[in-house]
Formats: sequence, structure tokens, C-alpha cells
Amino acid sequence: MSNSTHRDHVVTLRWLDTPGYGRLEMVDQTRLPAVFEYLSYDSAAGVAEGIRSMVVRGAPAIGVAAAYGVALEALLSQSLPAAEFHAALDSGFTVLEKSRPTAVNLFWALARMQRCRSMHAQANPTALAQSLLAEAKAIHQEDVRINQQMGEYGAALLADGARVLTHCNAGALATAGHGTALGVIRSAVAAGKRISVIADETRPFLQGARLTAWEMVQENIPVTLITDNMAGHLMAHGEIDAVIVGTDRVAANGDVANKIGTYMVAVLAARHGIPFYVACPLSTIDLNIVSGDQIPIEERAPSEVTGFRDTQWAAAGVQVRNPSFDVTPADLVTALITEKGVIHAPNKAKLEKLFSDKKFFSDNLLSMFE
Ligand code: MRU
Repeated sequence: MSNSTHRDHVVTLRWLDTPGYGRLEMVDQTRLPAVFEYLSYDSAAGVAEGIRSMVVRGAPAIGVAAAYGVALEALLSQSLPAAEFHAALDSGFTVLEKSRPTAVNLFWALARMQRCRSMHAQANPTALAQSLLAEAKAIHQEDVRINQQMGEYGAALLADGARVLTHCNAGALATAGHGTALGVIRSAVAAGKRISVIADETRPFLQGARLTAWEMVQENIPVTLITDNMAGHLMAHGEIDAVIVGTDRVAANGDVANKIGTYMVAVLAARHGIPFYVACPLSTIDLNIVSGDQIPIEERAPSEVTGFRDTQWAAAGVQVRNPSFDVTPADLVTALITEKGVIHAPNKAKLEKLFSDKKFFSDNLLSMFE
């Protein structure tokens, strides 16, 4: 049974073909929900700036945008002699790699684009640019499919009537479509379950208030907005049945990096016996990082904490910390929801087993972890 009032989710990124070239359009997430507008990109440096300034954000969406950034750079430089073309492409990879540090999907997507480049090393610039564009389109399409698969596995974990708290935005806006954590909620709703969402506002960038609440309202999925410091009160009063969040990087031992404040929610959920689920595509698991301590945590501008947009409320001259992510230790995670199934009580042995089971993986995905 599907919800008859359900509307299609937002298209976060779209590729527009023009003969021999093309451009990437991305919804400007810095202006939502007041303004819904696509910005247009035609170079790797432009896309990198879009990622850095958070026009596009959310781990999977960053990965898709970066892949298109490489393709754009190749298309832009295809008429140059081969050596200059490859130098331009190298610079494109470098600027994209530096755009944001925490979401491993960025590096995963760039590694996949480098692999595509190596596989077509003998091709002329125009042919290579077309191969890189085809790879970026494949990454884009796969992400939607992966989110739908995760959604189906995750939906089975939610009871009819569940009140589900989420932190940050792990929705269609954070991916190529459907979403990771919100994808699970969308799939449960589509399966006929009556789910209501409690959205943490997510200080300081307000992804919960601005983006998650907007996505849910657009689709008539019941949503209640709270400030981050209200979650404990609601849990203590039995008003939350489950927590679902997304993630930017999962270490080999199952530690989870996600938006700042997630750790606090996980501790509270454990205290109140509430399941804490993490929706996590396999491209977000980084087996090269032994534990969460090794995950690079982005520090963002103090101005995000001292005010918002043009308004400053904090005392001028105050010192500020603004770590943008935190790490939730694996022992607080009830389960990881992946596109290959649910991993209860994740740990090193379970993740190793998942990745050693080669029948699960397409050649592309497998090669990223060898
Ligand atoms: O700083 P952001 O908005 O890019 O952080 C996003 C998050 O922390 C999301 O929860 C995470 O990327 C998972 S997105 C499906």
C-alpha cells in the first residue's frame, strides 16, 4: 500500500547535456527553504566551491557532485593537447579532494573516477571525457538504487506508528535521491506504516530545521521540529521509539562519524533503551581507518556559531569551536543499515566479513577496497 498523498522527492543534482559539453545543476541548499533555486556549474573548481560552501552537502551527494566535477573538467579541457589536458584533470582532482575532509564518499568517488581514467589511459581527451562523464552518471544512478535498497531493509526495523528522531539531513537533498536515513522513513511510509518524524534542528548550520523539515513537509510525512537540547526530554517521556541518522564515514571497527550532536543523541538513546540506527551505504565505510579517532573532523568557520547569515548574536571577540562532525563509538550503534542488509551491533569482524564476501559486490565497488 502506498501513501496517496506522497509526492516525489526533490532532485538535488541534475546533469544537462549540451552537444560535446554539459553542465551540472545543484539545488542551492544554503538558501532552502526560503528560496528553491538551481545553481549551474561547468568546472571542477566551481563544483569544489559548491561543496565547500555547502550548496551541496551530505556524504553521498558530495560524492556524486565530485564525480561530475571531474567530468566537467575533462569536457572543458578536451580540446587541449594530451599533456595539458591531463594536467588540467590533475588540478581538477586536487581542488575537489580539498573541498571537504570528513565524508569519505568524496574520496571514494574520486578514486573511482581515477580508476576510470586509468582504464582508458590510451584514449584521446575527447573519448576519455566521455568515459568520465559516463562513470559520473553511473555513480549518480547507483546512488538512488542503493538508497532504495537501504530503505527497504531499514523499513522492516520500524514498527507501524513509530516516532523516529533524526539528526541533520540525511534525505534526498543529501544524496542523489530518496535519502539514507530519510530513505528508510520514506520506504516505511510507502509500505503503509504510519511514521512520524522528530527532526533535531541541528545547530549550527540548521540542516534539520531547514532541510529535513522541508523535505518531510513537502511529502506530507508528519514531522515535528525540536531544538537539539530537547531530545533527552522527549526520550525521558517515552516520546521517541527509534533514532535513525546517516553517516559521513564509518571506521573499520564500526565507529560512526556524523553531524555534530549525533554522539549526544546516541548516548541518550542508549540511556533510554531506544534503538540507534545508522543508514550507511557501503561507499561510506572506510576500511583504511581502524577506529573513529582517525577520522578527520572538519572545523568550520566561527561565524556559523556566533550567528546565522547576516545576524550575529554572540559577543564580538569571543573564542569559538566549530567541529562539524563527531564520532559515535560502535557500541552505541544498534545496527548499520546498508544496501546489502542490516548489520546488528557492528564491529570489526562483521565489517571485514561483509567486505570479504565478494559475491556481494560489483567489480567497481570491490576494487575500491582492495
Ligand atoms: O555538513 P553536512 O550537512 O554535509 O553533514 C551531513 C551529515 O552529517 C549527514 O548526516 C551525512 O552526510 C549523511 S547524508 C546521507
